[in-house]
Amino acid sequence: MNTAEIAQRYLTYFEKNGHTIVPSASLVSNDPTVMFTIAGMVPFVPYLTGVVPAPYSRVADVQKCIRTNDIEEVGKTARHGTFFQMLGNWSFGDYFKEGAISYAWELLTSSEADGGLGFAERDIWVTVYETDDEAAALWQKIAGLPAERIQRMGKEDNYWHTGQPGPGGPCSEIYIDRGAAYGPDGGPIVDDNRFTEIWNLVFMQELLSDVRSKTDFDIAGPLPKKNIDTGMGLERVAMFKQGVDNMYETDQVRPVLDRAMELSGRRYGAVNEDDVRFRVIADHVRSSLMLLSDGVRPSNEGRGYILRRLMRRTVRAMRLLGVEGASFPELFSASRDAMKASYPELETNWSQLSTAAFAEEETFLRTLSQGSTILDLALQETKTAGERRLSGNEAFLLHDTYGFPIDLTVEVAEEAGLSVDRSAFDTLMQEQRDRAKADARSRKRQLADLSVYRDLRAQGETSFVGYDELQTTTRVLGILVDGHSVVKAIAGQTAEVIVAETTLYAESGGQVADKGTIVGNGFQLEVIDVQKPVAGLISHTVRVVEGEVAVDDEATTVVDGANRHAARQAHSATHLVHAALRDTLGSDATQAGSLNRAGYLRFDFAWGQALSSDTRSEIEEIANRAVDDALEVTTRVVTLDEAKDAGAMALFGEKYGDVVRMVDIGGPWSRELCAGTHVATSAEIGLINLVGESSIGATNRRVEALVGRDAFRDLAVERTIVSQLSTSLKTPREQLPERIAELVGQLKTAEKRIAKLESQQRSAQVPAIAQEAVALNGMQFVAHNAGVVASADDVRDTVVKVRELLGNQATVVAVTGVTNDRPIVVIATNEGSRERGVRAGALVKKAAGVLGGGGGGRDDIAQGGGTNAAAIPEALIAIEQELRAL
Ligand code: SER
Repeated sequence: MNTAEIAQRYLTYFEKNGHTIVPSASLVSNDPTVMFTIAGMVPFVPYLTGVVPAPYSRVADVQKCIRTNDIEEVGKTARHGTFFQMLGNWSFGDYFKEGAISYAWELLTSSEADGGLGFAERDIWVTVYETDDEAAALWQKIAGLPAERIQRMGKEDNYWHTGQPGPGGPCSEIYIDRGAAYGPDGGPIVDDNRFTEIWNLVFMQELLSDVRSKTDFDIAGPLPKKNIDTGMGLERVAMFKQGVDNMYETDQVRPVLDRAMELSGRRYGAVNEDDVRFRVIADHVRSSLMLLSDGVRPSNEGRGYILRRLMRRTVRAMRLLGVEGASFPELFSASRDAMKASYPELETNWSQLSTAAFAEEETFLRTLSQGSTILDLALQETKTAGERRLSGNEAFLLHDTYGFPIDLTVEVAEEAGLSVDRSAFDTLMQEQRDRAKADARSRKRQLADLSVYRDLRAQGETSFVGYDELQTTTRVLGILVDGHSVVKAIAGQTAEVIVAETTLYAESGGQVADKGTIVGNGFQLEVIDVQKPVAGLISHTVRVVEGEVAVDDEATTVVDGANRHAARQAHSATHLVHAALRDTLGSDATQAGSLNRAGYLRFDFAWGQALSSDTRSEIEEIANRAVDDALEVTTRVVTLDEAKDAGAMALFGEKYGDVVRMVDIGGPWSRELCAGTHVATSAEIGLINLVGESSIGATNRRVEALVGRDAFRDLAVERTIVSQLSTSLKTPREQLPERIAELVGQLKTAEKRIAKLESQQRSAQVPAIAQEAVALNGMQFVAHNAGVVASADDVRDTVVKVRELLGNQATVVAVTGVTNDRPIVVIATNEGSRERGVRAGALVKKAAGVLGGGGGGRDDIAQGGGTNAAAIPEALIAIEQELRAL
C-alpha cells in the first residue's frame, strides 16, 4: 500500500464518520513561537485553547511537519526524519476519550478490503498515562485488549504538550510489535524499537502556563472545552504496510536514496557509514524540497538557515560518498517525482523551486572551495606558530561565517596532521545556542499572554469597516494595560483598546497600520499601532491623551485621511510593480515579501541577478503606464477555490480562511489575494518612481519606489540639483554628462602635470637639503623639516633622493613634513649606517612617539606619523640623540 493510499484511506474513514476534511497548513507556521509546523496540532492551537471559536467540531487532515532538533540523529535510527506527515483527527469539544479510542481501533484493525489498514489485533499494544484508569478501562472495553498489553508510563512518554505554554493533556499511544527479531518481548515499556509507536491520541484538557521541560511545567487550569488531538505517523504506517525496515525505504523517500546510489556508484546496505549518509540525503532532500515549496528560501537566519543547513548537510554527505560535483538536479527531481502524487504543486512550481535549490548547491560548492583555502591558511598559521591544534575560534568562524561544517574542518585538519580544539568550539556553539534560546524565550511569553484575548474574541470578530468609511462610532469591548484586562485607562497611560467595529486598518499583508485617533465623551486616544494578536481580533495600541476611557464607553474611531490616502496609493502601486515585474521577468519572479506605507513601497522577489538599468526602466514604464490608463480597481470576496481558479496570486506566508478578498487592477492583469486598502482607479496613484534595486541574499532582489506626492518631491529635488549644475557649468542639461566627463578628464591631466612639476621642484631642492648634512658619531646626518607637503609619498621621494646624493659614506636622512595638519616623518639609512647598527624602523618609532603617534618599518626606510605637528623640532632632536648615543 503506497503512502498516498494510506493517507486517502484515513481521510475517507474519518469523513464517513462526520469529520470535515481540511488541507494541510503551510510548513511555515503562523504561530510566532514556533518556526515551523512541528506537529499536526500547531495550526489548530487557537481552537484547542479556545482563544478562537472552532468553525467545526470534528476535523481530519494530513499535515506536513518539520522537526529539526534531532537533525544529527537522522539516518542513524529507523525513526528520525526531519520531514514527516501527520494524519490527525480532531474533536473540538465534541467526542473525547471513548470516541478517539473507538475510531482508532476500528480503522487500524478493519481489513484492507473494508477500507481499513488491516493491522493484526495481536500485534497492537497501547500505553496510557500512569493515572489514567479511564483510558485503560476503555481500551479493555472497546478493543478487548488484555491488561498486560495496556501499559502505563509517566509524563515523559504519556503527557503531551508542544514545549511551549499552550494546550496539553495525557495521551495514549498505540504501538506495533515488529516481532522477536527486533528485540526482547515485554511491550513498549521494555523496548520501544521492537514496539514502534504509530499513533498518539491526546486527550487535551489543560492549559499550561510555564513549560520548563517535557516533565516540568505548570498547569494554569482546565481548557474551556475538552478536545481530541490525534497524530498518526504516516511514514511509520507506510513502513509497516510496505514491509520495510525504516522510513527512508518507503515509497516517498527511497527513490532519492536510489538516485544517490547511482550517482555515487556505491551500494546501500554495504557499509554502515555509507548507509547513514544515504539516509541523510534521502531525508534532507525531501525536507528541503517541501520547505522550498512552502516559500522558504535559503538564508543565514531563522527558517532560511535551517533550510540551508539541510541542503549543506546533503552536499556534505554526497561528498563523503565520493560525489564532488553538483547533484541536486538529479536528487531533487527524484524527490519531486516521489512526492507529486500527494503534492501536485511540486510539479507546477518546479521551475522556481529548482532554481533556488540548484543555486544554493552551486553557492555552497564555491563556499567549500573558498572555505578550504581559508582553512588551509589557518592550518598553515597554526603550524608556523608551532601549535598542534587549530583553535576553537578559528573553527567556529569557519562554521559561522562560511557555513563550513565542523566535521569537515576536523577531517581536513587531521589530514594535515593537526587536531581541532573541539571543546572551545563546542563552548562557542553553546553560547550561540543560548543566545538563540534567550531570544525564543522572550517570544514564548507572547503566546502565554494570548489567553487574555480569549474572552474578547469569544464575543465575535472585530468588524473592519474601514474600506468604505474613515470613521465609525462603536463601543469599547475591552481595555488591556500591561497585558492585563482592566476596566479603564487614564490620561498618560498606554493601553490596548478593543472595540466592536473599527475603521483603523491593522498591519497585515505588508501594509502598515493606519494612523488616527479614537475619541469619545471626555476622552481622546492617539493610535500608535493596530494589530491582530489573534485571528479575527483587532487591537489598537493607544496613548490616552486626554480624559479616561472605560469599557462600554461609546467611541469613534477616526482614520488620518491624508495618511490613508497615501497608504492606498502605495499598496495599489505595489500590486502594479508586482505585475510589471512578472511582465518583464516572467512568472519565476515570485513575491518573497513586501512592505508599503504612505509614500513608499518595497517589494522582494525571487531573482538571482541584478536588474539592468534598461529592465528597471521598463518595469517603471509599465507600472506608470498602468497608472496613466486609469485602470479600475475591483475587490471581490470569493471562496479560496474560486480565487485559485481565477489564477489569483496568494502572498507568501499568508494563511487564508475559507473566503478571501481578491483585488484586481485592470482585470486579471494584476490579480492578488489581499486584505489591504486600495485606490478606486489606478490614476489616483499619480506617479511611481523606482528609486532602488538591490540584492537581499543570493536568490532574492528588492525594488523600492516612492509613490504619489513623495515620488514627485523626489524628482523635484533632482530637478533642482540638475538645474544648479546646469547654471554653474553653463551647460544645457542634456549635455551635462558629457561636460562633467570632460571636466573630470581635464582635472586628471592637470593633476598629473602638477605632480610632475612638484617632483621636479623637489629634485631641485635635494642638493640644498643634502648640504644640511652634519657629521655625527662618524656618520653624515640630515635632519630637515619640509613644512607643508602634499603627501607622505613626496617626503619619501625626497628622503631617497637625498640619501642617493650623499653617496656611500654612512648616512642617515630624516625628513619631516605636515600633511592635512598631521606631522609625518620618514627616515632612511644606507649600508654604512646600518653596519653601525642604525635601524630606520626603530628610529621612526622613537620620533613618531614624540609626535604623539606611532610607526615603524624596515631597517633601510621607515615612515611614521603623529598628531602634534608642533613637536617636529623635538622629534628631530630625539633622532639626533639616538644616533649620538650609539
Ligand atoms: N500532538 C500529538 C503529537 O504530535 C498528536 O497529534 O504527537
